[in-house]
Amino acid sequence: MLFGLLATRALAGFVSNFTMRWVSRRVIENLRRDTFGRLMRLPVSFFDATSAGVVTSKLTYDTEQMAGASTKVAMSAVRDVLTIIGMVAYMLYLDWRLTLIFAVVAPVMAWYLKKMTPKLRSSGKSVQQSMGEMTQVIEEAVSGQRMVKIFGGGDYEYQRFAKVAGKNRHMQIRLARLSGMNSMVVELLAGVALALVVYYAVGKFSAGEFAAFIGALLMLIAPVKTLTGLNEELQVSLAAAQSVFELIDSAPEDDNGAKELARVQGEITFEHVTLQYANAKRPALKDLNFSVQPGEKIALVGRSGGGKTTLVNLLPRFYEAQQGRVLLDGVDVRDLSLKSLRQQFSLVSQDVILFNDTVFNNIAYGVLRNASEAEVIAAAKAAHAWDFIQQLPNGLMSEIGDRGVRLSGGQRQRLAIARAILKNAPILLLDEATSALDTESERHVQAALDELMQNRTSIVIAHRLSTIENADRILVMEQGQIIEGGNHEELMALEGHYAKLYKKQFH
Ligand SMILES: Nc1ncnc2c1ncn2[C@@H]1O[C@H](COP(=O)(O)OP(=O)(O)OP(=O)(O)O)[C@@H](O)[C@H]1O
Ligand SMILES: [Mg+2]
Repeated sequence: MLFGLLATRALAGFVSNFTMRWVSRRVIENLRRDTFGRLMRLPVSFFDATSAGVVTSKLTYDTEQMAGASTKVAMSAVRDVLTIIGMVAYMLYLDWRLTLIFAVVAPVMAWYLKKMTPKLRSSGKSVQQSMGEMTQVIEEAVSGQRMVKIFGGGDYEYQRFAKVAGKNRHMQIRLARLSGMNSMVVELLAGVALALVVYYAVGKFSAGEFAAFIGALLMLIAPVKTLTGLNEELQVSLAAAQSVFELIDSAPEDDNGAKELARVQGEITFEHVTLQYANAKRPALKDLNFSVQPGEKIALVGRSGGGKTTLVNLLPRFYEAQQGRVLLDGVDVRDLSLKSLRQQFSLVSQDVILFNDTVFNNIAYGVLRNASEAEVIAAAKAAHAWDFIQQLPNGLMSEIGDRGVRLSGGQRQRLAIARAILKNAPILLLDEATSALDTESERHVQAALDELMQNRTSIVIAHRLSTIENADRILVMEQGQIIEGGNHEELMALEGHYAKLYKKQFH
């Protein structure tokens, strides 16, 4: 029987531990999924303002702290509160006057807890923040290794890391001190209570009653201690909750447009568009007006920082203009659902974005993931990427490393072009898409792109003017405004900014 009892107890212990863990892991998983789900719907401006390290640590460390403590807190709170109520009731039953001791001790306890709670909370928050800083330093130092090496940044990065690691320790120790103090104070107060009881009770009680009362009092200390200790976990987990829910509650990209367009003709109109980035001194686009006919090939040229990329960013609504409207086929882009809007564009961005995955998955990315191998190969051929892909150890199935580090700059750009070609969207946005290619490859890729641009609206940004000479219309941008427009011959005849730029490049 004894064995049976113990075995039951062992089994019950296992089940209770395991299920608590099960619940808490589920909570963590759901939290992470919700947080990441929201992350995917946040606007570009959020990512401009938030470092990747901070987001990473929210999703890894903070969620863990939050959910891990919450199940523990929930369980102990029930168990210990019940124990305390039981013990106090028993003591009241033994001698109610003696129980008044609590009237002395409890307010001190409450005052102390109240004083410590905000400190614990802020301490927990600091620990989490320092965790975010650590992830950020690691991420930057790892991804920027080549610059770290050539500019001798190793020591600097080491110092930077040592500083945040030290800060993390400092914050952890501060938390440990606060929680150590907690348990000390509870014990001191228990000592006071015990001494008062003994002082009052000697001679008034029978030995049995006295032992029972002291026994109950002693049994109270442990749960009270756990409860105050739990306050620490609770505050840390509340601080983590604040950090995680701050992200979950961040306003997503506003996607109120209900209109859906199947495949647009590709007419684009900018009406008095002004855009100023957050914290920028002056607008990046100023009262911009122009329109593009369906099928037209527009080239944007002009000085660095003139607002070319910004203009292109407005089309798929990466940013919102503060004033004016952007129209696509006569419909305000804000009236379209984001999904319907974005499926109209193929984009090769100025900084090539590749994922740590295979060549195949980088070309057939996102909505293109169901593309067949033949389609991917055709796109790769059109982008003049097929030759080098065949040379890779596993062909299309080769892994290309973080951000495509295992490829050359021009190869990366050609993969990005292949991806844009595969999407086959009605509007093509090319931001310095061939800047990393040699003249020979550029000519080939250009030929493929020219073919792609047939019957498609395209906006091409280029610094190398030779690549855009045959555009239908060239717009020269400076300081957020279009200062000249026309085809190559017209602009050369005008002898204005474009002519000057052109002559500089060819003489
Ligand atoms: N995300 C951003 N947040 C704040 N300011 C920005 C941001 N992106 C660009 N800017 C600023 O807006 C202005 C226009 O930048 P934009 O990238 O549009 O120039 P660009 O014409 O594409 O230049 P380049 O030819 O060098 O690519 C610049 O002054 C730049 O500093
Ligand atoms: Mg740019």
